[in-house]
Formats: sequence, C-alpha cells, structure tokens
Amino acid sequence: MSRIAYVNGQYVRHADAAVHIEDRGYQFADGVYEVCEVWKNQIVDMPRHLDRLGRSLSELSIDWPMSRAAVEFVLRQVVRRNKVHNGIVYIQVTRGVSRRDHFFPPETVAPSIVVTARSSSPAAGQALAETGISVFSYPENRWPRVDIKSIALLPNCLAKQSAKEKGGKEAWYVDADGNVTEGGSTNAWIVTKEGVLVTRPAENGILRGITRAGILDLVAREGLVFEERAFSLEEAYDAREAFVTAATNIAMPVVRIDERVIGNGHPGSVATRLRELFHTATDLKVV
Ligand code: PDD
Repeated sequence: MSRIAYVNGQYVRHADAAVHIEDRGYQFADGVYEVCEVWKNQIVDMPRHLDRLGRSLSELSIDWPMSRAAVEFVLRQVVRRNKVHNGIVYIQVTRGVSRRDHFFPPETVAPSIVVTARSSSPAAGQALAETGISVFSYPENRWPRVDIKSIALLPNCLAKQSAKEKGGKEAWYVDADGNVTEGGSTNAWIVTKEGVLVTRPAENGILRGITRAGILDLVAREGLVFEERAFSLEEAYDAREAFVTAATNIAMPVVRIDERVIGNGHPGSVATRLRELFHTATDLKVV
C-alpha cells in the first residue's frame, strides 16, 4: 500500500508529495505544526491540538488554511487512507508561497497545509518504557517564543543530535538559572525524593504540551502530590524519578541524566502508572 499525503487540497502519493520551492516554510521556517498521537484507531486530544494550532497561527498572524472542521476531516482522512491504527498524524501550516522577501506576502497569498500520517509500534514504545531512556543536558539556546509550535526546529535538532551522539534519546534544555526548561521534543518531569511530582509552569520557557495537559488532568484525578514550579538540573540528578511527555511517547521514564543514574536506575512507579492510565484522561476521536 502506498502512503498518502494531503497537500493543499489534494490527496497525493507520499512519494510524489511536494511543495513549491518558494514556500515560506522552506525558506524562512515561517510556519507551525502539530503532532497528534493515533491510538487504537483514535486521534488523541484532537480538540486541544487544534486549539494550540489556532493559537500558534494567531501569534504569527497566519490564517487558518481552511475551516477547523475541514482540518479535522482531513486529519481523519489521512489517518484512514494510510491505515494507521497506532502512530501519529502530522499537520503543518505555513504562510504560503511567495517570492522570497522577509516581509509578509500580500493577503492574497493563501497559507499552505500538509498532512501526513505514519504508523509506529506500540510494542516498541512499551519496550523502551520498560527500560527507560537516557537524557543529556544542553544549554538553552532557543528564541523566547518556544510557546509557539513553530517548524523552526534547528536548535532542537542540534540538541537532540548531541544527546544521540552520547548515547541518549533526548536532550534537556537548561536555562541560565540552572533550571531545566524542557526536552528537545518533550516536556520534562521529576518526582522528588519526597515523592512530589514536579514540572515547570507553562508561562515561559516551554511549549504547553498537550500530553502534559492530559497528565495534569490525570494527576488531579488521581490526587497525586504535585507542584508546578521550575526545577534545577541538580534537583533532577537527585530525583527519585524522571520522565518526559509528548504525543510521540506518552510518558517515557528517564533513568539517566548526564550519565547520572536516577533513582534506582529503573523506570519509576509514578511515570509507569501515568503512562498506563494516560488514555483514560484524554479525548479520543475515532477516525
Ligand atoms: N514535539 N516540547 C517540545 C519542544 C516539543 O517539540 C513537544 C512535542 C513537546 C510536547 O508536546 P505535546 O505533548 O503536545 O506533544 C514539548 C512533537 C511531538 C514533535 O516535534 O515531534
């Protein structure tokens, strides 16, 4: 079966899918994106993802490429046409195609939209979660508007690649105050020695993760002891548990940070439980 992508109004073979060389996404990273998890033929938390897409677009004064209802329809279609039962659906919207010029193009230029979907193996994700991952700290060097889910991800690629070259799966950005902001493509959490679950507030320095929001709902429902505050790298080294969250990996235990063993070196019970329960606290839309 060939993969199908949606590009500006058409469903095309993935292998043939293309955007114009003067798309502003290509030339200026002038666009935004979302990644939604597909779990058991359902799109996880689509309303929250589309709310955040709308916010990212509005912060950059880019119009919706079509109505929100039409975007929902296309997301479902692309998942269906690619027979993705478990995996992700990706949506990218850019400011459109125009002669290269830093100033915004005329209002007649329509935004571009691309939607793709791909399968992933829940068993592989679960196997990783049962071992846990290593992360490496990295100096925060991104622009201050990381709350916008911009496609300008070069700093994230550099941080993650650096972690990979040391044998890690994720980088944790550390700001000038020594506090962890977030991962290269995840939000960061710890459980302190005293058993308090901690994550950084979403006011600044991080992307307001949709998985993070689902986990927060779960934390409230389960009555876990929780503090939303900044935590330092040193505190993370000493934590009982650490984990990361994202649409691509739910809650993923972290067992090493910069070669330091976290807790007993095995996935923690809080992360494992939140991972197990996660989908019970989410909105699930059947494709
Ligand atoms: N990344 N922080 C950053 C910098 C991210 O890129 C992401 C997601 C998150 C977690 O957000 P959410 O829970 O909404 O997935 C936090 C996506 C998955 C990616 O770039 O592939």
